[in-house]
Formats: sequence, structure tokens, C-alpha cells
Amino acid sequence: MATTKVSSKGLNDLFHDTLKDIYFAEKKTLATLPKMAKAAQSSELKAAFEKHRGQTEEHVTRLEGVFEAMGKKPVGKTCAAIMGITEEGAEIMEEYKGSPSLDAGLLAAAQTVEHYEISRYGTLRTWASELGLTEAVNLLDLTLAEEKETDAALTELAESAVNVAAEAA
Ligand SMILES: [Fe+2]
Ligand SMILES: [Fe+2]
Repeated sequence: MATTKVSSKGLNDLFHDTLKDIYFAEKKTLATLPKMAKAAQSSELKAAFEKHRGQTEEHVTRLEGVFEAMGKKPVGKTCAAIMGITEEGAEIMEEYKGSPSLDAGLLAAAQTVEHYEISRYGTLRTWASELGLTEAVNLLDLTLAEEKETDAALTELAESAVNVAAEAA
């Protein structure tokens, strides 16, 4: 008789694995944001990246709080998605260096990161709630709100100065 291997992993494992994924992604982003701030041409965009770098530090700390609430050590797990998104951002910085369209490209790259984070935090928050991890829900909610605010602020920048400058070029 053929036997099918059934995983014994459950929602708790899925939550823990996904937490490791976003922990890795946040740390990667923490290292990337200063490079993006340095590359940005507009002072508003530089300021937006610098502001979000500070928030990202806090996101890392909050995730450590979630690990702690679960009685786990904070450990990251290589996130292929953020590696790819970061790689694309690096290509833009390289290929559009000195171009009036650089900032538009940087904005697009940064928003891709925000959308990834919003997706992850939304999922984690839902799972934490299902698992009855109240403290985790609170911490994840705080970060989710900041990711959404950042995305909105970047959209505003994209709709104003940055893309207008790129079009005028
Ligand atoms: Fe974040
Ligand atoms: Fe973010």
C-alpha cells in the first residue's frame, strides 16, 4: 500500500517560519535604506527613506518581541523574495545613476518592499490572532500601520515632485 507523507507541521510552525522570513527581510531593508537615501536626488525622498530607516529599526525590535512572546530566539531565514526585490533596486541605482528618472525608480523599488511587508504583516497578524497570541497581534499591528503609512507617503511623493521631474526630463 502506498503511503503519503503527511506533514505534522501546523499553523504555529507556519507562523514561526513566516516570522523568520520577515525578520530577515526587515534586517535586509535596514541595510538597504541608507543606500537608497544616499542615492535619492530629491531631498524629500531622502528624508522619507531616512525616516523609514528609523521605523525599520523599531520593526526589528518589535519582531524580537514577538519571538520572545513565543518563547523563541529571534532567528532569520533567508527570504528569496526580499533578495530579489533588493537586487532589482540595486539595478535601478546602477542603471539610472545621474538620470532624472532615478528617483521615480527608487520610489517604485521602495514601494515594492512596502507591499511585500504589508502582505507579510497582514498574514502574520491574522495568524497571531487565530493562535491567540495577543501580544504578537498588538506588535504586528503597530508595524503594519507604519508600513501602510509609508506606502501612502511614497505614493504621495510619486504623484508629486518625483515623477513630474522624471517627465520633464
Ligand atoms: Fe518594516
Ligand atoms: Fe517598510
